[in-house]
Amino acid sequence: MSDTIAQLAQEAEGAVQAAQTSADLVAVETLYLGRKGSLNDLRRTIGTLPAEQRPTFGARINEAASLLEERIAARRAELEGAEMEARLSGEAIDVTLPGRPLPAGRLHPLTQTAQRVKETLIGMGYEFVDGPELEEYQYNFAALNYPEDHPAMDEQNSFFVTDERLLRTQTTALQGRVMAERRPPFRIATIGRCFRYEAVDATHHHTFHQIDVFMVDEQISMADLKGTLGTFARAMFGPETLVRFRPDFFPFVEPGVDYSIAWRGSWLELGGAGLIHPNILRAYGMDTERYSGFAFGLGIERIHMIQNGVNDLRLYLENDLRFLRQF
Ligand code: FA5
Repeated sequence: MSDTIAQLAQEAEGAVQAAQTSADLVAVETLYLGRKGSLNDLRRTIGTLPAEQRPTFGARINEAASLLEERIAARRAELEGAEMEARLSGEAIDVTLPGRPLPAGRLHPLTQTAQRVKETLIGMGYEFVDGPELEEYQYNFAALNYPEDHPAMDEQNSFFVTDERLLRTQTTALQGRVMAERRPPFRIATIGRCFRYEAVDATHHHTFHQIDVFMVDEQISMADLKGTLGTFARAMFGPETLVRFRPDFFPFVEPGVDYSIAWRGSWLELGGAGLIHPNILRAYGMDTERYSGFAFGLGIERIHMIQNGVNDLRLYLENDLRFLRQF
């Protein structure tokens, strides 16, 4: 009988050493020490032995059981140590690996152009003022000397929100707002988004950006306008840039012109300009015998297109990184 215990103990010992993971070890433990395990099976045979053998037999089983428990505990410590080691080395962070690069952002080409324009005009003594994108009919048209139902308004087909309010079609709308509050002399510039109900094509969008510049002082003439536009154009397009005026009509200037710059062998139209119509100065209480002023406006997209050879202004609003990354 005692051989059975020794044999079982030996077999269990072998199984403990053979266990390769702590899960294997739990299985071995259950097999030999569990409630229905082999050692308990032996214990249940005690009753069949002669009475004088029972105490020794019981004691030997207990001894074998506690020895086995010790072995299991020792093997468990070994296996868990190795498993922990393996986990730690598997999860280790290699601090010498280079980080993942974050792509650097940059300003939208129109923002870059607007900044250039702003720096240039501030350098020329202009103060920047913002106007609202949702503008009153009064400032977008009426204050700018558009007679009721004048066809010039049809050229700027508009997004009306109510009868009195529309998305501004031109940044010139700021003029009335400024003139309602200031007395000359003043030199003002503004940059902003404009909206027109246009058939969109490579040179027209329903949403685009304009710069408007205007000033009022004593004895301002077309010569001041041309000098200012020349300085501005040379700062934006290079020191040799020439500016050409041709007569044009805008209700808010008299005389009115459109102006072009000479660029790589041809004249490219930039925008409209002229002397502020005396009706406007008068409407805002300025003495037209003493004061006069000029105004000019142009598109920001147009500047960037000319400078970079872009031939379709729809690209500026499409957010296609293949286009934007080039600037
Ligand atoms: C005006 O908007 C006048 N307010 C300019 C002005 C200001 C004249 C001060 C006199 C005195 P015009 O509609 O031509 O003018 O537009 C001026 C510029 O804005 C154009 O040359 C063009 O560059 C840009 N622009 C106009 N409409 C669009 C459009 N639909 N899409 C893109 N750019 C446009």
